[in-house]
Amino acid sequence: MTASLGSLEKKASPEADPSVLQIWGRHPLQGKVKISGAKNAALVLMAGALLCPDECRLRNVPSLADVKRMGQLLSALGLKIKWDGDNLEINGRHLDKSEAPYELVSQLRASFFAIGPLLARLGEAHVPLPGGCAIGARPVDIHVRGLQALGANVQIEHGMVRAYVPGNSRRLKGAKFYLDYPSVGATETLMMAATLAQGETTLQNVAQEPEVVDLANFCNALGARIRGAGTKTIVIEGVPRLGSADYEIIPDRIEAGTFLVAGAITRSQFSLFPVVSEHLIPVISKLREVGAQIIPEGSNGLRIIPGDTIKPTDIETLPYPGFPTDMQAQFMALLTLSDGDSAIRETVFENRLRHVAELNRMGANIRVKGNVAIVRGVPTLSGAPVLATDLRASAALVLAALAAEGKTTLQGVHHLDRGYEKLDLKLQQLGAKIQREPATAGMEKDATALQSAKSALK
Ligand code: UD1
Repeated sequence: MTASLGSLEKKASPEADPSVLQIWGRHPLQGKVKISGAKNAALVLMAGALLCPDECRLRNVPSLADVKRMGQLLSALGLKIKWDGDNLEINGRHLDKSEAPYELVSQLRASFFAIGPLLARLGEAHVPLPGGCAIGARPVDIHVRGLQALGANVQIEHGMVRAYVPGNSRRLKGAKFYLDYPSVGATETLMMAATLAQGETTLQNVAQEPEVVDLANFCNALGARIRGAGTKTIVIEGVPRLGSADYEIIPDRIEAGTFLVAGAITRSQFSLFPVVSEHLIPVISKLREVGAQIIPEGSNGLRIIPGDTIKPTDIETLPYPGFPTDMQAQFMALLTLSDGDSAIRETVFENRLRHVAELNRMGANIRVKGNVAIVRGVPTLSGAPVLATDLRASAALVLAALAAEGKTTLQGVHHLDRGYEKLDLKLQQLGAKIQREPATAGMEKDATALQSAKSALK
């Protein structure tokens, strides 16, 4: 009791975010929704643009808080950037700073990935350690060891990673490097670093995520020579200089997966496009296991047809092509309403089950032991004031709210805005009753909820 009052009290004083989402559940969804460009591809391709000594253009860039922060980083390093709708023009001629500002790296882990292209192009890079975040400690040891293998001298002092390429040429040297774990970020950092190295680099046990492949394709469009992206070994033949490119980012498989779960949890039929269904294989296969049908529509769309019930299933998060950790929270929301018990094991991040407590506040029955959550299906969820703790947790709470009886007030919406482009508006267009309101309105209502909870305790 004390703990839940404490969390209500915390919600009555949200930190930075000025708005809350009010969601009235149990409104069926229908129609068609457009999927935006992939956040994780956009972020790393923007870092990749640091390799380009000229103008390049990225198309299908989602308008997200994280993407804007990455834009600020590029500007802080001397690049000129210009938005034109969802196109981003980046002029890399004036890259003249090798130090990334702490305020940006501390807010956006992906900005650490700039260390690879900075080192490749300038021969030096000074990037603050990104630190931990809500979902885990997230070290950068593999990035650092890989850069050392490519010949960089890397020191970590006072929270700053300082990397130099010794010698007159200031070019990294091709090498063989085995990644202890197929880290997405480390694969991307090292792939970018090796594009301008002298000689050939072989990276083994790399991440095979579609965003890694998108980065390789973008770098190749700039003139790099990368092969094997999407497999466990990537070979990069260094070139002295890259050129320019006009490149379209892949659709966001996590946003698409989140909408598919929205269909399954609200028992609604609708379509989404564009998607690359191959990128969604583990997600689609789990949705089929829970009883939904996912069918292709047109050349690049999918349609979800929900089952009569939600069947339980077990999930283990793994590097691609395993089940994505970025879809774990959303599936947990779905399985809270299944007609049995499911086990969800999170193996990628050590602290990514923080949505459990909030889902339980909505009536779910989830127990956590270590990195495993046992989800016992319940017949209904009920709307409640809830607090988002990280990006995908906030998506899970939105999904739970769409299926719950009554109204949910979601605070911590800034987490959602980091990675979902206009999620509330897209859901509204599908027929959901969801509204963004100034935080004060939500806070007053939460204060009332807090007051009645306190009275109930007396
Ligand atoms: C990327 C994605 C994130 C996704 C994650 C896993 C971006 C911007 N973010 O994050 O959405 O959830 O992949 O699919 O693309 N690790 C180390 N040492 C390292 C690097 C990583 O121990 O040097 C560990 C991490 O702490 C974590 C695991 O490896 O436990 C996976 O991390 P990683 O694949 O690197 O994730 P990110 O690239 O940070």
